[in-house]
Amino acid sequence: MRIVLFGPPGSGKGTQAGLLKEHLGLAHISTGDLLRAAVKAGSPLGLKVKAVMEAGQLVSDDLMLELLEERFAQADAAGGFILDGYPRNLAQANALDTLLARIEQPLDVALLLEVPQDLLVERLAGRAGAEGRKDDNPDTVRARLQVYEEQTAPVADFYRSRGQMVALDGTGRVEQVRERLLAAIGSTTASAG
Ligand code: AP5
Ligand code: MG
Repeated sequence: MRIVLFGPPGSGKGTQAGLLKEHLGLAHISTGDLLRAAVKAGSPLGLKVKAVMEAGQLVSDDLMLELLEERFAQADAAGGFILDGYPRNLAQANALDTLLARIEQPLDVALLLEVPQDLLVERLAGRAGAEGRKDDNPDTVRARLQVYEEQTAPVADFYRSRGQMVALDGTGRVEQVRERLLAAIGSTTASAG
């Protein structure tokens, strides 16, 4: 099973991917987590992307594709994956298509978590207090939401136009959202025969 988990900052991508990974035995590939690990390690990539992330802007498509190719080359990705945080613009959506065709692992479905903006802001403010993620301050959250609207939301139409997008209600308790996702994944598998 190869899934893109899609949605705005704070919609629950990381939370839900963590749960689905266990349940479905898939690799959880979060580009945000990979980048934060690089920043923490102080690697050359980390040094390049730190300021961009703290401003809530997108890291360059070239760097992201390189990072993603490296991750897909790891053994666990061959058994299926949940991609969280990629693609984030149309260029990345096309790059992903090409990459997955080359490794003969086409996407099964893109799942969109829909959450109203005031709830996103509330969740991220909660996490800012609990975890201190540097890009969860109010100014950067605003920038991230704007980047999502302008650059990332069009990617949903890209998958919708190909009949690969399933939109879900991302509000409610974590377990409720998880059940909705599992139901959507179940019906995808069923319709694929
Ligand atoms: P990334 O790490 O992908 O961040 P994001 O998309 O902004 O999303 P978040 O991780 O903040 O939210 P989430 O949807 O995972 O929600 P979560 O489960 O954590 O990217 C960070 C940065 O990296 C980008 O800004 C960019 O600079 C760079 N980057 C990454 N990928 C890139 C790419 N492809 N191209 C270019 N640049 C890239 O939940 C949020 C909070 O809500 C948590 O506290 C959680 O506990 C809580 N919560 C979750 N679900 C519920 C629920 N049902 N009820 C109540 N609370 C909930
Ligand atoms: Mg996340």
